[in-house]
Amino acid sequence: MKKLLKRVLSVVLAVIMMLSSLALNSFALTADKAWEEYYSSYMEDGSAVFMSPGSDDTQRNFTWYSPLKSGACSVLISESKDFSNAKSFAGTYVKTPQGDRSNKVTVTGLEAGTTYYYKCITDYEVSETASFSTLSDASFTAMYVTDIHLSDNEDGDEASLMNHAYTFNEIAKKAQAKTNNGLDLVISSGDQATYGLRKEYMSLASSTVLNDVPFALCVGNHDRKGSAYKYFNNNPNKYEKGISSYIGNDYWYVKGDVLFMVFDSNNYAAQSHYNFAKSAVKANPDVKWRVAVMHHDMYGRLTEGRLEDANENRRPTFSDIFDDFGIDIAFLGHSHYYSMSNAVYNNETADDLSGKSSVTDAKGTICFVSGSINHPRGDESTYDIPVCEQNAFAYVSDRPIYNIVDFTEDSITINSYEIDDDEPLHTFTINKTTNEGGHPGADNTVADYFTRLFLEIRAFFEEFGISVKVIFNNKD
Ligand SMILES: [Fe+2]
Ligand SMILES: [Fe+2]
Repeated sequence: MKKLLKRVLSVVLAVIMMLSSLALNSFALTADKAWEEYYSSYMEDGSAVFMSPGSDDTQRNFTWYSPLKSGACSVLISESKDFSNAKSFAGTYVKTPQGDRSNKVTVTGLEAGTTYYYKCITDYEVSETASFSTLSDASFTAMYVTDIHLSDNEDGDEASLMNHAYTFNEIAKKAQAKTNNGLDLVISSGDQATYGLRKEYMSLASSTVLNDVPFALCVGNHDRKGSAYKYFNNNPNKYEKGISSYIGNDYWYVKGDVLFMVFDSNNYAAQSHYNFAKSAVKANPDVKWRVAVMHHDMYGRLTEGRLEDANENRRPTFSDIFDDFGIDIAFLGHSHYYSMSNAVYNNETADDLSGKSSVTDAKGTICFVSGSINHPRGDESTYDIPVCEQNAFAYVSDRPIYNIVDFTEDSITINSYEIDDDEPLHTFTINKTTNEGGHPGADNTVADYFTRLFLEIRAFFEEFGISVKVIFNNKD
């Protein structure tokens, strides 16, 4: 009997070990000596200065930690390295569960096409000087990544967090090097952390690239395993009227001619997300492009079990919201597999994009899901997993994937790369020929019909040099 019990136990243990190794499937480069030294002094310092987008490009949001009794907090900004004619912006702080405090400051009034130097200040500390630049026009370049999963391995190997941070920074440096004028933004679709711990977010902020480039956070299911996200983020325009999932809120920001709506998809409350999207669009009616960012996948791989259950639950809620508010692109995550959907409207394929490299005036939302940075799920057992019927392109990899997204007035181009490759694994361009929000050509409402009719009439007259304007007397 004892023998049988032992045998059963050893089989159970082997299965658990196999499953946990599948779940972890950790990828990390090994940090070099310079990073080891930098990272250990950075973590010891503990202030973890982190820059997020502000409400638009005239603003930047900052957050960092300091001792509880460290006086007022402020950010000093100047166009000169010597901080002549500097401006100071005061902020607020909250006490953290660790007994120190999280400082939050918003810098406003930034001019276009300008480089600024900044320092984060309390009575106790002044951060190193760093700089950032504002956009000159509507064009900009972002890196889109998801499921960075900065964490220690479960065996408690402290080096792995350092290596994960190193891996992310190396990828960000590779992305920087591939751009013409540097990165202007990092878009993340959540699961920045694995256990929701402060040291995981601090490791994210250790990236030297993020000294200069704002990082737009998003709440994944792993981010809410702890409460650190709540103290670490300083997201603009948080939607606090609706239901939140404790550590996160939906929030929006504008960059160039793009409205980014970041949803906390851990929260199932459809009405709350709808109200948030409505308020974001109402506040920015003239912004040309609308981009959704959230954690859960919608039209990628049909991974069995919890992953697919979670994704399936999001489709009806978010496809409705994406349709109602004319979302052009959604950047998603969670599955840890790379995919691009067709243009989806009413939860169905509206434009089949299989085998295509571009689309003009898409009739629905195109969803991208990138692979994970530190936990890519690709191995032989996953090659044959089927994809959703709305899927246009899928790719399985055992290496991290990152994406360089070029936003211009008329197009958005996504180039997706595996960590060591110079050539993209996938390239896609979305062109838009009208300035109206929504999906031109989507045959949905009477209002859309009249909008299209008006655009056609206007185009007809403009060919003869006659400009047509409509003035609405909207009392709302
Ligand atoms: Fe994840
Ligand atoms: Fe996830």
